[in-house]
Amino acid sequence: MEYRIPLIAGNWKMYKTCNEAVDAASRLVKLVSDIDGVDIMIAPPFTSLAVVSEVIRDSRIDLGAQNIFWEKEGAFTGEISPPMLISSGCQYVIIGHSERRQYFGETDETVNKRIKAASTSGLIPILCVGETETQRDDKKTFSVLDKQVKKGLESLILDEHHSIVIAYEPVWAIGTGKTATQDQVQEVHSFLRDMLENNFGNMIAKATRILYGGSVKPDNVSELMALPDVDGALVGGASLQPESFSKIIHF
Ligand code: PGA
Repeated sequence: MEYRIPLIAGNWKMYKTCNEAVDAASRLVKLVSDIDGVDIMIAPPFTSLAVVSEVIRDSRIDLGAQNIFWEKEGAFTGEISPPMLISSGCQYVIIGHSERRQYFGETDETVNKRIKAASTSGLIPILCVGETETQRDDKKTFSVLDKQVKKGLESLILDEHHSIVIAYEPVWAIGTGKTATQDQVQEVHSFLRDMLENNFGNMIAKATRILYGGSVKPDNVSELMALPDVDGALVGGASLQPESFSKIIHF
C-alpha cells in the first residue's frame, strides 16, 4: 500500500537564542500533544539543539539540524559533524537549502558529500532543491531540478534503513509571501517522484516524502497538502511562532 506519513518541518534559520528556542519548543509541545499521524520536526540553530532536544524528548516532535559537515572529526574550524548532531538529539538534517547555495557557496558536489555522510551515519537528510525566478522564466525549472537531484543523490544507497526526504522550494517563493500555484507544485512533485523511480526504483519512489517549501502559512497549507505528491511542508517564517506552526501541523 502506498502510504507516506506527512512530515511538517520547521526551519528556524538564524532565529532564536537558547532561551527563546526552549520557550518556543515548550509551547509547541503543548500545542501538538493531540497530533496523530503526522511527523513533526523542528530545526533550531546548532546552539539550541541540545537544550531543545531535552524539551521535546517525550513529545511527538523530532529534531533536525540546518547543515552538517561530512567528516567525523578533525581540524575543520566552525564545522559540525554527523556524530555531533546525533549526540545532540537530531534525527534529521536539512541539506542544500537555497540560502546555503546562494550565500555560502554550497554546490551540488558539497551537497552530495553532506547527504552521504548524513545518511551513512543514520540521520535522515532533507535535500532542498528549487529553481530561481529567472530559471523558471527561462523554462529551465526541470533541467535545474534534474541536475540538483541527480548530483545531490549521486551514489547514495537507499533502502529500508536509509531514507531521505526531498524538499521542493522554489527560490522565488521563499520568504516572499508568493506561493507556487497548486498546478506548479504538483507538476514538479510528480516530476521528482518519477526521477526517484528512475534512479532508485518504484519502492523507494513510493516511500520517499517530497515536501513543498516557500511561504507555507496556516491559510494555504491544506490546499498544498491535498495534492497527491505533496507529503508535507518545510516551513520557515511561519514556524517561528508556535501558534502558527501548530495550525500548519493541524492542516
Ligand atoms: P519560508 O521559508 O516559509 O519563510 O518561505 C521556507 C524555507 O526557507 O525553508
